[in-house]
Amino acid sequence: MTIADPIATDLTFAPVAGYIGADVRGVDLRESLDSEQAQAIIEALHRHKVLFFHDQQIDHAQQIAFSRIFGPVTASHPYDDDAPTEFPEILQIDNRNYERKFGVKAASYTNHWHTDVTPLVNPPAVSVLRANVVPDFGGDTQWTNLAAAYNGLPDSLKALVEGLRAEHRFGGRNPIFKADSSYGEKIRKAPLVSEHSVVRVHPVTGERLLFVTPGFTSRIVGYSQRQSDALLDLLFDEVATPAYTVRFRWRAGSIAVWDNRATAHLAPGDINHLDVTRTLFRTTVEGEVPVGVDGRPSVAVSGEQFTGK
Ligand code: SIN
Repeated sequence: MTIADPIATDLTFAPVAGYIGADVRGVDLRESLDSEQAQAIIEALHRHKVLFFHDQQIDHAQQIAFSRIFGPVTASHPYDDDAPTEFPEILQIDNRNYERKFGVKAASYTNHWHTDVTPLVNPPAVSVLRANVVPDFGGDTQWTNLAAAYNGLPDSLKALVEGLRAEHRFGGRNPIFKADSSYGEKIRKAPLVSEHSVVRVHPVTGERLLFVTPGFTSRIVGYSQRQSDALLDLLFDEVATPAYTVRFRWRAGSIAVWDNRATAHLAPGDINHLDVTRTLFRTTVEGEVPVGVDGRPSVAVSGEQFTGK
């Protein structure tokens, strides 16, 4: 089934899974978008949560220009120093670099379900990921719908978690990087830690979102570590419920755009033992400070807001 967007453009958005994800056709991202096209894409993103564009041979400047339809584009990442000199917005996700940075082989920058950069008090609103070199097989990414994860909870558990806050820090409970790696050292010197509501409210759609992930959420505030681990394990299982997910097979020129407030994603774990190259370029759009069901905003425990232009 292909659902034409209510705004009159040539764009179509075809759902690819029951809870999340749509293929986008009818647009060439080498061209600048008109306001109707941009609005149709933004509305579709809020509806489908992750959008997949195909065969888009664009460069860094065109990726940054496209990302700006969603808001100001930030620098690549708070801990990144590998961005191309002329494009400080571009995060290079290249499996060949992680052994040097993390002290272990990795396909991407975390090996757990995560929402991008939630240790920031204002995590990115939107992420845009463009594939440049991909292996012939393997290296897929998965996304999950955090509104579905919240909606699937029984009412009594919803009521409990709506009143809770959680700490988010780099590495979560099980960091991918070695503590004595250059990355571990960087994080120790300038920790980024924030406290977010366990259930945040989407600022545009009003949806309630289960906003915890194993990539970054380290503990429930006010709980003992044992209590926190037990509850987080349960919530992480809900977030990773297979029915709420979609899996994407990359080709060179594929682009995925996700609503980073309403989703978590999982980088591949199946190519670390293979002699392959996987290079993607990510841009992120400045996010607002999340707000819980009770109206309480997130707070920074360590670190500043990350803004863009
Ligand atoms: C990311 O976490 O933003 C990148 C995901 C991937 O490498 O598939």
